[in-house]
Amino acid sequence: MSYSEVYQKACRNPEEFWAEIAENVHWYKKWDKVLDDSDKPFYRWFSGGRTNVCYNAVDLHVEEGRGEQAAIIHDSAITNRQQTITYNDLKAETARFAGVLKAHGVGYGDRVVIYMPMIPEAVISMLACARIGAVHCVVFGGFASNELAIRIDDCEPKLVVSASCGLEPGRTVEYKPLLDQAIGLARHKPDHCIVLQRPQAEATMIDGRDIDWTRAMQEAGQVECVPVLATDPLYILYTSGTTGQPKGVVRDTAGGIVSLKWSMKNIYNMEPGEVYWAASDVGWVVGHSYIVYAPLFNGNTTIVFEGKPVGTPDPGVFWRVISEHRVKVLFTAPTAFRAIKKEDLHGDFIKKYDISCLESLFLAGERTDPDTLNWAREKLGVPVIDHWWQTETGWAICSNCMGIEALPIKEGSPTRPVPGWQLEALDEQANAVKPGDVGALVVKLPLPPGTFPTLWNARQRYMDSYMNTYCGYYETGDAGYIDEDGYVFVMSRTDDVINVAGHRLSTGAIEEVLASHPDVAECAVMGVADALKGELPLGCLVLNAGVERDEREIVEECIRLVREKIGPVAAFKLATVIKRLPKTRSGKILRGTMKKIADHAEWNMPATIDDPAILDEIAESLQKLGYAGA
Ligand code: COA
Ligand code: AMP
Repeated sequence: MSYSEVYQKACRNPEEFWAEIAENVHWYKKWDKVLDDSDKPFYRWFSGGRTNVCYNAVDLHVEEGRGEQAAIIHDSAITNRQQTITYNDLKAETARFAGVLKAHGVGYGDRVVIYMPMIPEAVISMLACARIGAVHCVVFGGFASNELAIRIDDCEPKLVVSASCGLEPGRTVEYKPLLDQAIGLARHKPDHCIVLQRPQAEATMIDGRDIDWTRAMQEAGQVECVPVLATDPLYILYTSGTTGQPKGVVRDTAGGIVSLKWSMKNIYNMEPGEVYWAASDVGWVVGHSYIVYAPLFNGNTTIVFEGKPVGTPDPGVFWRVISEHRVKVLFTAPTAFRAIKKEDLHGDFIKKYDISCLESLFLAGERTDPDTLNWAREKLGVPVIDHWWQTETGWAICSNCMGIEALPIKEGSPTRPVPGWQLEALDEQANAVKPGDVGALVVKLPLPPGTFPTLWNARQRYMDSYMNTYCGYYETGDAGYIDEDGYVFVMSRTDDVINVAGHRLSTGAIEEVLASHPDVAECAVMGVADALKGELPLGCLVLNAGVERDEREIVEECIRLVREKIGPVAAFKLATVIKRLPKTRSGKILRGTMKKIADHAEWNMPATIDDPAILDEIAESLQKLGYAGA
């Protein structure tokens, strides 16, 4: 069938479409209802069914004869080590770690926070939770204690799984002190922490609370998969909202299995047994969906990569991994390619390796700029597919579906909506805009399986943030247009979320931290263009009257404060002191105009500004800062 035929089929009768696909997964009990719409807009897929994520990801393949196939290849470019874990090994390790969890009181519905670097034990921990019906919440290692504490308080885990350290180029990040500090800050105290001691740093353990991973694994028995409800939560993954309180995106069990398994063939054109590599981190949604779950549901080999696109040790590391492990599809963020291109413009490192196994490159996390797209396509000689999705959606809203029909590529567009997604661009009155005109990108409800049925502990926030603005639609928070051919162009966010190196950050959360500095009266943070990371946060600080300290010292303190409170991942390094913030007469900060000034883009004097002279002062301050724009 062509793309259009599959797309139309999914639109005509979503229940029939997804029920047919759901036949390809393992069920202990089939669903009573394909789509339960009794509590709109909280739609539930496959309600009444019983299944298990870990069984579908691991045990099923062992039973079907894939036991000797590699399930995970851990390639640590930082330590120069590689390890292959077969499906047989993965089943044994996961069953044993599920035994460890159970022995320490974790059961069905309990939450487990996982704070780990890119090592196989992170994947084993996630699968072990799924095996016993516990809900995991992975927290990215680049977040500081305070962010970890916020997540601990929100999801109230029974237990935390961690490692003694993560490895960044040239730096060992000790996780255990960060974890101890987070538990100190949090109101909720987990009963236990299971800690994997890595040779690069030894964690100090707290008697009675902390448990050594290796010893616990030696003592534990293996535990079988537990049938859980199709609608039970598999995980919570926090993502940036407009405030300092992140949103706990919930993913449910069956929807995730059905949609992700389908996506492997239909979007990425992967057959079971082939090697797939998502060069991201398990702490992000890409890591959940495409390092861990989708490739395993589909019986693929997944690469768990500990390293960076450059500097570990050189810009050839991606090509080495592809050629050594015979990777068919690579998925990463455009920023990784910009980093490689910067260091190897002519692609000399690519020529050193045989990457003939690579069939396509998928990019997401931010819009793929035409320069990056063309460079990658020319140097790799494979299709480069931009696809658009979000933590909330769990898988792609728009993509060129390579397993259905490869459509012509248009630069700057993630192609057309994936079957299952009915996308529209609307104006403020909820009318469809003309093809080519920019509007809010919204998805007609119900969302397909595998998306987020709610936010953890925040039903009303789910409504307010996503469902209330356009009745009957999910508001993506992205603006863009759909052209005459149905191609989608995602242009910008409609909220205060910025995108730094493919990571989503809240300017509001950074502003909250800056405002807590005793000398700061007011501040504004915006995302300014950066040639490598896409955007970087820039802070404009207004000091309290009477502060006479050296401004540079205050700026340094503010930068340190953001690193301490949010973490290095915020990449907050640009800040300047200004006299006043430009505001409209009604008091709204003119962030958009400030951003244009910072980016050296064209800007017009806003008609509603209360004091036009202030913008010249800001331009002068930004010039002094030395930020050159992209
Ligand atoms: N644990 C602790 N610290 C971490 C971390 C982790 N897991 N991941 C990143 N950090 C730190 C980095 O060390 C860096 O600290 P620094 O300010 O002391 O240098 C900071 O957080 C910013 O990290 P990063 O955004 O990775 O920047 P970088 O300069 O180290 O690397 C790129 C730049 C482009 C190479 C890198 O961002 C990259 O590979 N991006 C790929 C994109 C990606 O994976 N996106 C996920 C969605 S698909
Ligand atoms: P996250 O939830 O962290 O995955 O970030 C999702 C956001 O990243 C989206 O809402 C977009 O703003 C942006 N994004 C992701 N992929 C793309 C893409 N292919 N094109 C444009 N923006 C993208």
